[in-house]
Amino acid sequence: MARIALVLGHELEDRLLADIVEHGHVVVARLVSARELLGSIDALAPEVVLVGAGRATLGRDLLAACDERGVRVVALAANDLDRHHARHVGLLEVVDATAGWDEVEPLVQGGAAVAEAPRGPATRRGTVLAVWGPTGAPGRTTLAVNLAAAYAHAGRSVALVDADAYGGAVAPQLGLLDAAPGFAAACRLAGSDALDQGELDRLAQHHTAPGGSFRVLSGLAGTRRWPELAADRVAAVLEALRGWVDVVVVDTGFCLERDEELSTDVFAPRRNAATVAAVEVADRTVAVGQADAVGLARLVRGYADLLEFTEASRVRPVVNRVRASVLGLDPGGQARHALQRLAGISDATLLPDDRRGADAALLAARPLLEVAPRSPLATGVRGLAERLSPSAAAPPRRRRGLLARA
Ligand SMILES: Nc1ncnc2c1ncn2[C@@H]1O[C@H](COP(=O)(O)OP(=O)(O)O)[C@@H](O)[C@H]1O
Ligand SMILES: [Mg+2]
Repeated sequence: MARIALVLGHELEDRLLADIVEHGHVVVARLVSARELLGSIDALAPEVVLVGAGRATLGRDLLAACDERGVRVVALAANDLDRHHARHVGLLEVVDATAGWDEVEPLVQGGAAVAEAPRGPATRRGTVLAVWGPTGAPGRTTLAVNLAAAYAHAGRSVALVDADAYGGAVAPQLGLLDAAPGFAAACRLAGSDALDQGELDRLAQHHTAPGGSFRVLSGLAGTRRWPELAADRVAAVLEALRGWVDVVVVDTGFCLERDEELSTDVFAPRRNAATVAAVEVADRTVAVGQADAVGLARLVRGYADLLEFTEASRVRPVVNRVRASVLGLDPGGQARHALQRLAGISDATLLPDDRRGADAALLAARPLLEVAPRSPLATGVRGLAERLSPSAAAPPRRRRGLLARA
């Protein structure tokens, strides 16, 4: 039984009403506009809102208000334009307006009965790895994508999450549809306590490769998505993911400042929450910096900030693009020496500058580990994967089928 508010228009309403009631639901309101609902949502306290998927009724205000209160939204689309609009505002729970109630009911159930709904036991406790790095494009996404590939190649089930609210780039690096709002949608569902493995499976895209496929939750398409990234939601999504796969790799933003310290407006978009939450949840965090004077200085400063959110023993410093042209003779030794002197870091992993390999991967829109598996950077990333989680990086005893384990 769910408390349902209808914002559908009379024709649809008339067609569905009998079925709604017959299924034991309570219709708390029959409204004609989103504005009406926004004005009375607290008084009505619906658990589910059934709304027309058109521009006139389905808007971001409505979604935000419902998210805030944990109300599930299911939209009915009359045509392709409606469907496109719903997708554009990030709603995936869309059913054809001509569909029978039997198609709507599962979506209504999915949200309303969350607390009682069988979620299936989370049998795994996968490892969560965050990839963080300071401003200046030190290679966070490159490492995240290739670490995911490395564990997938070793036979593990892997989910790669794009949690960078400053221009996430996982989807383009993998040639995936950027508009698919997987991660933001997962956060939205976590906010209404409606995230289960079935939903995760539905929201994830697949990167498919013969050597090892993995799942991808991408897509913070714009500012409208930030409010969905509240820290508790991000943490809930990552915890759900680790119940589902062996390894969760999270590509994060660069900024570790707490949003609330940047703004006194409690409703201001939270842009950094995802990064902070990912680092807090992660078993290990890669802190990657560029191998030049500016990049190393930024890494040292950021490393200190990072330790406000996690312990040093959980952080693996990485210096990327190590090359003699910016550090002189023995560039690796120079980088190590600088980190030791400035931050007391003695165990950094060094990764070589590998423009050829990195470009080939970008051109092919595939992980470097697939495009040029023997390139210097690919070799370096495999070593990093092993240091981060030796058990997850160990080759399987027997290769399983594509995506078979997840
Ligand atoms: N080791 C490397 N050698 C050469 N180019 C690299 C290396 N690592 C990353 N790059 C390149 O640097 C650029 C920025 O990398 P990216 O992973 O997008 O950074 P970030 O996610 O930190 O902004 C990309 O063009 C990428 O191909
Ligand atoms: Mg990036």
